[in-house]
Amino acid sequence: MRPLSAIPLAVLAAGAAGVGYAAGYEVRSFRLRRVEVPVLPAGARPLRVLHISDLHLTPGQRKKQDWLRRLDSLDPDLVVSTGDHLAHQRAVPVVLDALGPLLDRPGVYVFGSNDYYAPMLKNPARYLWRNSDAPLSAEPLPWSDLRDGFNAAGWLDLTNTRGRLKVDDREIEFAGVDDPHLGRDRYDQVAGVLDAAADLNVGVLHAPYRRVLDRMAQDGFPLILAGHTHGGQLCVPFYGPLVTNCDLDRKRAKGLSRYSSPFADDHEPSWLHVSAGCGTSPYAPVRFACPPEATLLTLVEAG
Ligand SMILES: [Fe+2]
Repeated sequence: MRPLSAIPLAVLAAGAAGVGYAAGYEVRSFRLRRVEVPVLPAGARPLRVLHISDLHLTPGQRKKQDWLRRLDSLDPDLVVSTGDHLAHQRAVPVVLDALGPLLDRPGVYVFGSNDYYAPMLKNPARYLWRNSDAPLSAEPLPWSDLRDGFNAAGWLDLTNTRGRLKVDDREIEFAGVDDPHLGRDRYDQVAGVLDAAADLNVGVLHAPYRRVLDRMAQDGFPLILAGHTHGGQLCVPFYGPLVTNCDLDRKRAKGLSRYSSPFADDHEPSWLHVSAGCGTSPYAPVRFACPPEATLLTLVEAG
């Protein structure tokens, strides 16, 4: 009888250790990933792009705030934030303070569902078998205050908008959409021929739903940046993420990949970078085999 009772005890102990590691250590084990993207014209000098996403900040998360503040030492030429900055009614000044040094640099942003609505208590296991519902009944967050703070710093709001920024003496054209996870994307408002006079054209969105990626790739954006997936958040070692929380395939849950439009076109496949983000919902503060991250993308000449 002793071996039979020992097995469930061992399983329980291993499970408790895994939860303790995921909630007590990995969720605060912030990492920087460095990725090289061969996307610039021949002869162009490298461009350093800091991609941050899914901060889900609350006022009490001091370690995350300190880590975000230190990212400025990477000396990026451009900052791209792909949404889900907030997780608390009083988080706007916290986000602006944590990003303070980075706000002095050229930057662009979009919002995600968690900028618009406060997090809700849900069964975290739902994340593993279905896409989370849009929290339409949740309490609104002060996203417009965050927008005003970003805009006052000179960051470019890409909510269903195209725009240009001068970065390191180069002209970059951007097109962004509002969060596809909430069905707020209006790609028709930004669709069309790219600005050939720009040195680079970049598509930006929060949740990487294929209906938007397909059209950005069809229009020929050589680089597309997204967040939302949390890299799967709970991953299986040697297997990877189980879900992406959208209709993107799980092998692209984080990192760099090529993305081809299913429509007929003459363009090269886009480079798609999906950030695993650096936060979680306060009601599911666990990460496993998928540490919180920011990414320094070094853009270099193609080929
Ligand atoms: Fe998120």
